Amino acid sequence: MKLATYIALALAAPVLAMADEAAKAKLMEAGKASFMTCAACHGMDGQGVAAGPKKMAPSLSGSKIVNGDPSIFALVVHNGIAKEGQDYLGMMAPLGAALDDEKLASVMTYVRNSFNNTASVVTAADVKKYREQYKDIVGPVTRAKLDELAKAAKK
Ligand code: HEC
Repeated sequence: MKLATYIALALAAPVLAMADEAAKAKLMEAGKASFMTCAACHGMDGQGVAAGPKKMAPSLSGSKIVNGDPSIFALVVHNGIAKEGQDYLGMMAPLGAALDDEKLASVMTYVRNSFNNTASVVTAADVKKYREQYKDIVGPVTRAKLDELAKAAKK
């Protein structure tokens, strides 16, 4: 490799890393604002709002869905989860129509990097792809179906 090329690459790497960091910071900030929609049930701290002895919704901290393949997380927020006797007072409603690609990507990035979670950033382009991928799935998804799709996504 020519020295000039080497120097150019060495200089470009930190600049690209900085651009990544800036993009992530932007997603995190927007995501924090959008998380207000989720906080009613999942709580500002992501632990699930307590309502007497029960909870409105499960904790998002360490959640397999949150930290796993982002397409499954996107599907959960987009379509909601079918109510099958889970002991929560709330219901995971379909929120896909209320969140555009940008908002869904930012809220996912925020949740994947808050409440002790550390998972990759999700972009609006990713979300667009996931919506297309699962466009034939209509209405709230069962837990069994989510497990099946998560297995398929790992392959
Ligand atoms: C009206 C209350 C409510 C709101 C608002 C809400 N959720 Fe939920 N969420 C739930 C309930 C209840 C469940 C559990 C559903 C079940 O298993 O039947 C759930 C489950 C989930 C799960 C699956 C967690 C796991 O590990 O099983 C994720 C991820 C999630 N919600 C993310 C979000 C995000 C992100 C938002 C905001 C964009 C949001 N939710 C808004 C009530 C809510």
